[in-house]
Amino acid sequence: MDSDTFNWLAMAVLSALLLVFGMPVAVEVFGGGHAKHSAKAGYKLPDAVASASHGSAKPAKKGFEFKKVAALFGEAKAESGKAVFKKCMSCHTVNEGGKNGQGPNLYDIVGRERGSVAGFKYSKAMAAKGGKWDYATLAEFAYKPKAWLKGTKMAFAGMKKEKDLANLMAYLQSLSANPKPLPAAE
Ligand code: HEC
Repeated sequence: MDSDTFNWLAMAVLSALLLVFGMPVAVEVFGGGHAKHSAKAGYKLPDAVASASHGSAKPAKKGFEFKKVAALFGEAKAESGKAVFKKCMSCHTVNEGGKNGQGPNLYDIVGRERGSVAGFKYSKAMAAKGGKWDYATLAEFAYKPKAWLKGTKMAFAGMKKEKDLANLMAYLQSLSANPKPLPAAE
């Protein structure tokens, strides 16, 4: 056997050995062993990243979160809410006993039964919804009407800014002889 053949054979044997005995080591290093190692090293994935990589929890910043609106109630002003309400005024009156327009009158809306204004023809979805409006549901409805109530006939894209929503709630609060307190932020 010349030295070239010997080298080749030696390589072949070594490779085979590596394959047989090396595999569990490779698995240990790159697979299961990895997590153990990370844990020991005290490395922790941020929760959002960890859960996103497992495809479970929803992405952190998407959709409506009432607590972000409620956090701004301390500085919310009915006057500023009146200004953002301009977007709603083409369809809604706010005075007591005011006429229904394209949408129902909104006097005393906080705590009012949903879909309850006499003489207004609500969508089937709103008529069937039931329950009473509170600040959380009013804000969520204004944020994206069609997401909160599928089938609503309120043709309004939505008010997306938390600050606008907080001011809007302060304004809706003021439309009453007996204003309901805004909930405290968590
Ligand atoms: C293009 C017209 C239009 C605009 C703009 C509009 N709305 Fe409406 N709104 C409606 C209609 C129509 C309904 C009835 C919805 C249904 O029956 O599904 C409604 C229903 C409502 C209700 C439920 C009332 C009840 O009696 O249960 C609230 C609260 C409301 N709107 C608030 C607002 C606010 C706040 C804005 C502005 C951010 C706004 N709307 C903008 C047309 C409009």
